[in-house]
Amino acid sequence: MLEIFIIKALSDNYIYLLRNEQKNITSVIDPGEAKPVIKFLNNKGWHLDEVINTHHHHDHVGGNKELLDIYKSKLIAPSYEKDRIKNIDILVSDNEIVNITGISTKVFHTPGHTLGHVCFYMPEEKCLFSGDTLFYLGCGRVFEGTMDQMWSSLLKLRTLPEDTSVYCGHEYTLSNMKFANYIDTNNALLNKISLEIKNNRENGLPTVPFNLGIEKKINPFLRADDDNFIKSVGLNSNNASESFGEIRLKKDGF
Ligand SMILES: [Fe+2]
Repeated sequence: MLEIFIIKALSDNYIYLLRNEQKNITSVIDPGEAKPVIKFLNNKGWHLDEVINTHHHHDHVGGNKELLDIYKSKLIAPSYEKDRIKNIDILVSDNEIVNITGISTKVFHTPGHTLGHVCFYMPEEKCLFSGDTLFYLGCGRVFEGTMDQMWSSLLKLRTLPEDTSVYCGHEYTLSNMKFANYIDTNNALLNKISLEIKNNRENGLPTVPFNLGIEKKINPFLRADDDNFIKSVGLNSNNASESFGEIRLKKDGF
């Protein structure tokens, strides 16, 4: 059984610390900084066996070097970003199955935010580490890829089972929620979830993980091929990736 701990880092990043007690393996996903991870491991008395990255941005890999120097951990990162992430031991690519914290994990290449971004899905644990591709009620900014690539990447994640718990790279939920409510004015489920989100944030609680089944019904970026939704937003395109692009641009300027 895998335990997942949430470590807050930098201004709004989440680092995920994974622990497999049975196999005595500990991993960390996207350590944007090393200090909070070291502190956490010291408290628990655990060694760090694996460091995993979803993409090359500094707020996801900034702690790599210090952690690898101290713990001699194995670094697992996307093959597509091998020139931008240093000292990778295990390169991973689309559809590959890798062991992370001793748990069988499927890799999804999800270009868009960066060209080499990957997400990690653990079917047995019903959880997805989505980095900066899918956020609660949002998605990553499209920095390196095209809108079409990002839409295709989100579609890959949307096919995962409803009962998947999603762990994303940032606490952007409140701002995403405001935008979702702005463009989706008649969604009872979104209204209900928005109250929960506000409550959690007022109490300083993380909004991760979130449920993918619910997300499919309330995240505007996952609904660019839902004709009724697209019409209600005032968009007129028959092409889902174009509609997605328009929603993404609206959010960029929101
Ligand atoms: Fe990023």
